[in-house]
Amino acid sequence: MDSYSHAAKYYDHLYHFKDYSREVEFIAKIIRKCQGDGEISLLDVACGTGVHIKHFRDHYFEAEGLDLSPQLLDTAGKRNPGVRFHKGDMTCFDLHRKYSVITCLFSAIGYVKTISGLESAAKCMADHLLPGGLLIVEPWFTPDAWRPGTVHTSIVDEPDLKIVRMNTSAVAGRVSVLDLHYLIGTPVETSHEFEKHELGLFTAVEMSSAFERAELAVDFDPEGITGRGLYICRKEPSGA
Ligand SMILES: C[S@@+](CC[C@H](N)C(=O)[O-])C[C@H]1O[C@@H](n2cnc3c(N)ncnc32)[C@H](O)[C@@H]1O
Repeated sequence: MDSYSHAAKYYDHLYHFKDYSREVEFIAKIIRKCQGDGEISLLDVACGTGVHIKHFRDHYFEAEGLDLSPQLLDTAGKRNPGVRFHKGDMTCFDLHRKYSVITCLFSAIGYVKTISGLESAAKCMADHLLPGGLLIVEPWFTPDAWRPGTVHTSIVDEPDLKIVRMNTSAVAGRVSVLDLHYLIGTPVETSHEFEKHELGLFTAVEMSSAFERAELAVDFDPEGITGRGLYICRKEPSGA
């Protein structure tokens, strides 16, 4: 079962504060600088509800999405009629096609959990790039930046939907653990749901090494789109 199986229908409500349009504006500039004004084919890996894809299409990129969660993909499809969405695992997918750009945003890469998962995902994404193509990955926390024992809440306060999501951050070895408790109020009932999310904590060296092992040249912007940094990796123009 994927981590988002319970709260998938509330995903967009919970992340209402994210400025997807501005994030895509930032990434589109990087893409245009590296790839020029020609046609761009883009795959958004771990695309969630497809909001980045909607904005990439506003920039005239031909976009597709891939995600593990059928519920999130369903929302993504409704948001982006005519766009191809694939159900797949970022560590082992094969779409029989290559793209000029692959993105993996909002720290989704952390869900691969282990270094071997990270290396498999990096290789799999690199294998789907055209020669000279770009892989753009927004990382999760590094081990030294993660603070176990801190308490977090997210709140949705709409007329017919109230949600309080609360968790105490924990760590198990090199994996961050988020036990997310949701209290969800609708006009029908108030209910409680629970999800466990586990994301690997990778150092900058481990991230870069995984991309380099996939034969990509790595550049790192420590700020990126949300302050978590951004890996901008390029496949050799002569690569297969
Ligand atoms: C924090 S959300 C980010 C979603 C989207 N990129 C965004 O910015 O809104 C993490 C996403 O990773 C997806 N995911 C988790 N593990 C995955 C895997 N192994 N392969 C593909 N997608 C995965 C989840 O289903 C979820 O959509």
